Amino acid sequence: MRQAGRYLAEYRALRAKHSLLDLCHDPALAAAVTLQPVERLGVDAAILFADILLPFEPLGLGLSFAAGEGPQVEHPIRDAAAVRRLPTPDPAQSLGYVCEAARLVARALPPHVPLIGFAGAPFTLASYAIEGGSTRTFTLTKRFMYTEPEAWHALLGRLAEFVGCYLAAQAAAGARALQLFDSWVGCLSPQDYRTYVQPHTRRTLALAAQEAGGRGVPVIHFGTGTAPFLEDFAAAGGDVIGVDWRIPIDQAFARVGPGRAVQGNLDPAALLAPRVERERQVRDVLGRAAARPGFIFNLGHGVLPETSVEAVRAVVEQVHGG
Ligand code: CP3
Repeated sequence: MRQAGRYLAEYRALRAKHSLLDLCHDPALAAAVTLQPVERLGVDAAILFADILLPFEPLGLGLSFAAGEGPQVEHPIRDAAAVRRLPTPDPAQSLGYVCEAARLVARALPPHVPLIGFAGAPFTLASYAIEGGSTRTFTLTKRFMYTEPEAWHALLGRLAEFVGCYLAAQAAAGARALQLFDSWVGCLSPQDYRTYVQPHTRRTLALAAQEAGGRGVPVIHFGTGTAPFLEDFAAAGGDVIGVDWRIPIDQAFARVGPGRAVQGNLDPAALLAPRVERERQVRDVLGRAAARPGFIFNLGHGVLPETSVEAVRAVVEQVHGG
């Protein structure tokens, strides 16, 4: 997660010359950034370089990344009329440059390193579309959800269709696994998750699976802070359930139930700890997962920009070694 990014000097060198959106828009550059960490870190998979917010451009919301301030949405969605005004672009065509990057990477990777494509889940995307950027409280998002339930469901329905088809297009372009990021869904109560989000995530994953399933491409359903409603989260779908460090991974396996894989869940902050503590935390995750079939070791969320490349490499080696 975020294995390409600011903690890598070669990424920072490219970013000094190109904006984040320029890197995403240029398939050759995006492919190069995707490949950077793979050899450097010795990881088992590559994650396509893109961003979950790219759909906001064809959806007419306007997107920019201000230095140090995170994403900014030019025309945030604040009422039902804004939802009605949304255009219906074709994901495969309007984000064709992402699919082209996926094709380039799939061709360049050695056969034993699969490419992971990804997209944002309807709730997490809606939160950025409504807030207009990052938030800690999700105030505007929840107010919209409670006061305009019809427009809310219309918005998430539209996002579900777009994202489901977008994921399918990435599988068709050569992604060998897909990840749906519901990064901020843990801000909701279990009841609100079931009422306002779960049907739309289920639709997204079903659409993605239509294409992906036929190709044998598994879908990872990831969220943070999902421990209070993990059963409901898992019930929305996904061949793999991705969890953060707030739940021990053996408990996650038990609650997700049989027949599905679980991905996680080292705290990214463990990579800032002294070696002994970092190694202890990696051992703890591995010990709890106990070589269960379908265990995918990963961080519970993205690599922090302050992380040293050596620490990431050391974790990869420890996981491979034991
Ligand atoms: O290597 C990879 O993981 C692939 C690339 C990737 C990016 N964004 C590039 C990026 C992925 C998988 C994402 C997903 C993404 N983007 C998520 C879901 C994953 C998560 O972390 O929960 C979210 C919520 C976003 C939205 C987003 N993009 C934010 C909030 C920010 C600002 C973050 C910050 O710390 O400034 C971004 C920018 C961004 N997208 C960066 C990268 C490498 C860092 C900024 C930069 O290079 O200037």
